[in-house]
Amino acid sequence: MNKPQVLVARAIFPETIARLEEHFEVESNQDDAAWSKAEFIARLQGKQGVFTTGSERIDGELLDACPDLKICANMAVGYNNFDVDAMTAHGVVGTNAPDVLTETTADFGFALLMATARRVTESEHYLRAGKWTKWAYDMFSGSDVHGSTLGIIGMGRIGQGIAKRGAHGFGMKVIYHNRSRLDAQLEADCKASYASKEELLKTADHVVLVVPYSAASHHTIGAAELALMKPTATLINIARGGIVDDAALALALRERRIAAAGLDVFEGEPKVHPDLLTVPNVVLTPHIASATVPTRRAMAGLATDNLVGFLTQGKALTPVNPAVLTR
Ligand code: DGY
Repeated sequence: MNKPQVLVARAIFPETIARLEEHFEVESNQDDAAWSKAEFIARLQGKQGVFTTGSERIDGELLDACPDLKICANMAVGYNNFDVDAMTAHGVVGTNAPDVLTETTADFGFALLMATARRVTESEHYLRAGKWTKWAYDMFSGSDVHGSTLGIIGMGRIGQGIAKRGAHGFGMKVIYHNRSRLDAQLEADCKASYASKEELLKTADHVVLVVPYSAASHHTIGAAELALMKPTATLINIARGGIVDDAALALALRERRIAAAGLDVFEGEPKVHPDLLTVPNVVLTPHIASATVPTRRAMAGLATDNLVGFLTQGKALTPVNPAVLTR
């Protein structure tokens, strides 16, 4: 019997390709070439599965053109690259990679918070530029993390991980805003209390964004929200580009309407708004919150398990549209 055919859309661990090859005919993009949509569609012809990394758009136009496609397995917890309604309408399963990256991503959220609050990269650039000639009492004074108020917008697994680090490790007062309130036990575990978005923005010393991207969360933070924040506050975005209005943020940073920001994700990435590149009080990283070798291996492993499970036994471990499985 012919093996199912799978396309791997981006370069990935050789061990991942080897494992997929145990079950499938595999075409992979190990050169990491930038495929146009037309080329992506052409390569998907005859493929039952595709391994995506979160940046390849799967929409109705693509699905219309790829009638053999049955599963798209994202190596990412976020799946805003999927048009889930179109996939469901076409009977195509989408899967994501939750849980395996929670702690690693929460670590990074905290690292970015600390680097931002304590001006780590700005001061390093100063030192590397040879500008450090003497100690000064006010040189690169930042804001305290311990004992401050941490405001988390988006209290899923990663948000909870950041809350625990803040409350238990740094003695922070944790407030959060979420679509739905956590149950009492989870709130107690995280030592977190619920706040309206407005109250959170007005009172938090450090605001961390961990909400999934959707039309509803587009520009959760824009000029009006930035205006509510304290002038001493920091803003951290490890969620998705588009959750923050980057142009409005760059202006607020330039005018010191908030103290600083730490951004791992950007509107239109890998392009970065040019104004963000010229303001000093922002720490910028290239979407690396889940980037440790064990975690990236685990994410690739889960995407592979989803492809193998679904295409060999009709079972997906982490479907985002499970209704398709029961049809
Ligand atoms: C995710 O898993 O959604 C991350 O942003 C990808 O690295």
